[in-house]
Amino acid sequence: MGSPELLVWAWLPLSITSSGEFDPHAVTAMDKQTPPKPGDDFNVVIVGAGNINFGSDEGPWNHSFRLEHKLGPRLKVVALIDPSAARADAALQIKRDSFVLSAYKDTIVYPTMKDFIDKHKPEHAPRAIWVGSPPAFRGREEQGRDVEKQIIDAFPNVGIFIEKPVSTGPVDQALNVAKRLVDAGNIVSVGYMLRYLKVVQKMKAIIEENNLKVMATNARYVMAYEHTANFHWWDKAQSCGPIVEQATHFCDLSRYFGGEVDLSTVMAHSLEHFEPAGQLAKVPIAEDKITPDQRIPRITCASWKYESGAVGSLTHAVALHGFNYATELDVICDGYSLRLVDPYNAPVLYLRRPGDDHEEVIRYQNDDPFFSEVANLIDNIEKGPGSAPILSSYEDAAMTYALTWAIREASERNIKKPAA
Ligand SMILES: NC(=O)c1ccc[n+]([C@@H]2O[C@H](COP(=O)([O-])OP(=O)(O)OC[C@H]3O[C@@H](n4cnc5c(N)ncnc54)[C@H](O)[C@@H]3O)[C@@H](O)[C@H]2O)c1
Repeated sequence: MGSPELLVWAWLPLSITSSGEFDPHAVTAMDKQTPPKPGDDFNVVIVGAGNINFGSDEGPWNHSFRLEHKLGPRLKVVALIDPSAARADAALQIKRDSFVLSAYKDTIVYPTMKDFIDKHKPEHAPRAIWVGSPPAFRGREEQGRDVEKQIIDAFPNVGIFIEKPVSTGPVDQALNVAKRLVDAGNIVSVGYMLRYLKVVQKMKAIIEENNLKVMATNARYVMAYEHTANFHWWDKAQSCGPIVEQATHFCDLSRYFGGEVDLSTVMAHSLEHFEPAGQLAKVPIAEDKITPDQRIPRITCASWKYESGAVGSLTHAVALHGFNYATELDVICDGYSLRLVDPYNAPVLYLRRPGDDHEEVIRYQNDDPFFSEVANLIDNIEKGPGSAPILSSYEDAAMTYALTWAIREASERNIKKPAA
């Protein structure tokens, strides 16, 4: 071929087999799946009528679309829970005007999970609950933000999907919720979908097959802020800031490779809005409406030790104009550099290994990690726990949440306040 590029085409099912082996040929694209067969109804409750569950222009996410392709005519969305009835009705109308009418024609909108639990008919008991509400309304112990507790108390056998980050509340409460879910024994999957990427699984396979020990991870997340016009994203009081809200995916991948972090070792510095180098020319919202101490950092640089002794680091930047982010994760092992580039849009793995100073380029066509995470949870519910790998458990995701807070807090300890 003359090119170092290795194009691997996909034609077999499941990217990681239930025994944990990576299959590069697995079909993960929705349009390459065997069409779902007719059969018994599969009741699903969707929580949140927003972008993650029903799609948006900003990215490829859209859980309902993937549920439709996994379950076909069996899908029955018995309830859509959202305090905004208008948003829920609008999402349902689009579905009812389309070929997936049968899944949504009888969907009832409820403002809260409690309402659904109190009022639903027994035949509408769900087999899966898909939680894509904002994290401020979950992962806590106080009433109204304890959706996980409400679910497991009412539906002990239901499978649960929960979006990242698991909460915006205190870390110890998220860890308690994790324990509660483990004790309840429900099947739970959290939306760290980058773990399902074939390039990421390939990296795991290389490390395992060669008995490698990860020596370092180095994550870089340079976001393009010019069109991020979501006011709450710029306000730490609402979003918790870009490490907890956004870099969480890269903190999670870092942990996926590096293992558990010794949180007492986390160190971090930030570049703040009031510092000379922190002035941004294209902020698309009225940042002066946000209390100064709640405005987000422009740069956060953090480092930490893993329990293995390996070292992790992260640079997050709010810096680019335009639309595309620049994101990379290096995983360094003895003799090996595994460099994951652009996992969101066009994932590529640059691999250097012993015996060759050049980097091999590995990419997979038609990979859909969002579909894999949806399909694997449904398979676990239908065929039994372990029938397909669930790559992000709630306990694991709660530890990622803890890491993101440790980074934010370490950087805030080092802020030099502006002169009054
Ligand atoms: N994995 C990914 O790549 C990815 C991508 C986008 C969003 N997300 C995550 O999905 C979650 C939701 O984000 P979004 O972009 O869909 O937000 P969104 O603002 O578009 O939608 C949230 C919806 O939830 C509703 N809602 C508010 N409180 C609720 C409650 N208590 N119960 C039920 N619904 C409630 C809102 O009315 C709104 O309709 C966030 O945690 C976000 O981080 C993940």
